[in-house]
Amino acid sequence: MEAKIILNNEEDTKKLAKKFAKSKFKNMIVCLDGDLGSGKTFFSKSFAKEIGINEAVTSPTFTIIKEYEGKTPFYHIDVYRLNGDVEGIGLEEYFDKGGIVFIEWSSMIKNFLPKERIEIDIKRISETKRELTITSYGDKYDRLLGEVL
Ligand SMILES: Nc1ncnc2c1ncn2[C@@H]1O[C@H](COP(=O)(O)OP(=O)(O)OP(=O)(O)O)[C@@H](O)[C@H]1O
Ligand SMILES: [Mg+2]
Repeated sequence: MEAKIILNNEEDTKKLAKKFAKSKFKNMIVCLDGDLGSGKTFFSKSFAKEIGINEAVTSPTFTIIKEYEGKTPFYHIDVYRLNGDVEGIGLEEYFDKGGIVFIEWSSMIKNFLPKERIEIDIKRISETKRELTITSYGDKYDRLLGEVL
């Protein structure tokens, strides 16, 4: 399934993150794409807060993978600096660890992504306005998309 959503400001983005948090499930994979500064990390941080991650969530650009403990563990991944060279970093092990996985710049590693996932492509329309194209793959993610719209 595919849907487009307009977010007028940061508040809208936080509300969407809250909906994702409400519908979360184990091993949920959320792929984020969009230009530098479009809001991938902002959305990830908003989501982490909603699922009760107390630790400050920062951009994982330089660390590639950051793990946050919580009732539901949160794995925040940013593959930008890998330049597609994802082999050997053990990415797959995060996909069935029982936590929730967010991957920024996921399109750079398309062949390594699980078949079932949700993808959010963020387009910057203005300083605060964003257009999201959300695509779901698989029943669970189709349901998730239906719930967050
Ligand atoms: N509606 C909005 N949704 C998300 N972020 C917004 C919105 N309006 C303004 N912003 C601002 O846009 C910026 C988004 O930065 P962020 O680090 O999240 O981008 P990014 O996509 O992760 O970039 P990078 O590719 O460098 O990792 C933040 O400064 C945030 O405050
Ligand atoms: Mg980022």
